[in-house]
Amino acid sequence: MRASAVAQPNIALIKYWGKQEVAGNVPAVGSLSITLDSLQTRMTVEFDDGIDADSLLLNREPAERMLPRVSQSLDNLLGSNRSPALIESSCNFPIAAGLASSASSFAALVVAASRAAGLQTDTLSLARAAGQASGSAARSLYGGFVELQLIEDKQAPDIAVASILEAGEWPMQVIVAITAKGEKPISSGDAMNLSSKTSPFYASWLEHQGHDLVVARSAVADRNFSALAAISEHNCLKMHSVMWASRPPVVYWNKATLACMETVRKLQADGVPVFFTIDAGPQVKAVCLPKSAERVSKAMQETDGVIDTMESSLGGGARLLNNP
Ligand code: PMV
Repeated sequence: MRASAVAQPNIALIKYWGKQEVAGNVPAVGSLSITLDSLQTRMTVEFDDGIDADSLLLNREPAERMLPRVSQSLDNLLGSNRSPALIESSCNFPIAAGLASSASSFAALVVAASRAAGLQTDTLSLARAAGQASGSAARSLYGGFVELQLIEDKQAPDIAVASILEAGEWPMQVIVAITAKGEKPISSGDAMNLSSKTSPFYASWLEHQGHDLVVARSAVADRNFSALAAISEHNCLKMHSVMWASRPPVVYWNKATLACMETVRKLQADGVPVFFTIDAGPQVKAVCLPKSAERVSKAMQETDGVIDTMESSLGGGARLLNNP
């Protein structure tokens, strides 16, 4: 009745922004991401009929505020008449700061919970379960380059997720520049709902996502870095334009976010194979080929306003740990 799992965050290159108006947190668009390696969330789940209710420890501290979402995710996976659970989570990077901690958390949660409940659930079903809690979490079940596709069906739209290239097949290095600590002003879920209701650019965002996915998919298949860089930056800036044009505006960036983008542009002008991407937070992820990682990392560290940097190669999907 007890199992542990580990999962890493993923960084979307072609972003998920917007939900379908149906139950189950189904994204309005497909997306394409890379799964990281050295940023990790470990999750232990133990079902115990001897306790009254679920409890959650995050980095050894009670995490009451996050418990309802976690309990709901266990209900979705196992049904609401499941046994209460003791859940322990530890994360080696800042949470709720635009580093996709919810993706690694829910991916690890469903893997651990399914095994603790004695189930042998296939990876796609686990990805769908994780995606109900956090759309991007579905992608952290897989490693390397991952695509989430929509299965169009008016009554019951769904997702399919698969790794399109394993981590070792096209090595990349990701340098994350931390430009602010602390929680973000508005959750990605609330912000995307606001965008879909108020942003004049939202319809156009939906319309062009299919094209961006085709371009990114073939750039990955061809290992064409400059094509992947161009479409990833374009897609990221479009997503933020949708946010900025929402009412009230959703602005996650700060001065250092812009300074980091400038650093990446300068590196590009010097011929360094690197591009930036930014999610629902102020941190900037610089993605580069491993040969340029040292130079990119140094440039990001020296950028005004950068508090810290973290570095990761690409890694595998969520998996069980042997010694819970
Ligand atoms: O999975 P959520 O609900 O935290 O939303 C993630 C949204 C972005 O990180 C901005 C984009 C993405 O595809 O990961």
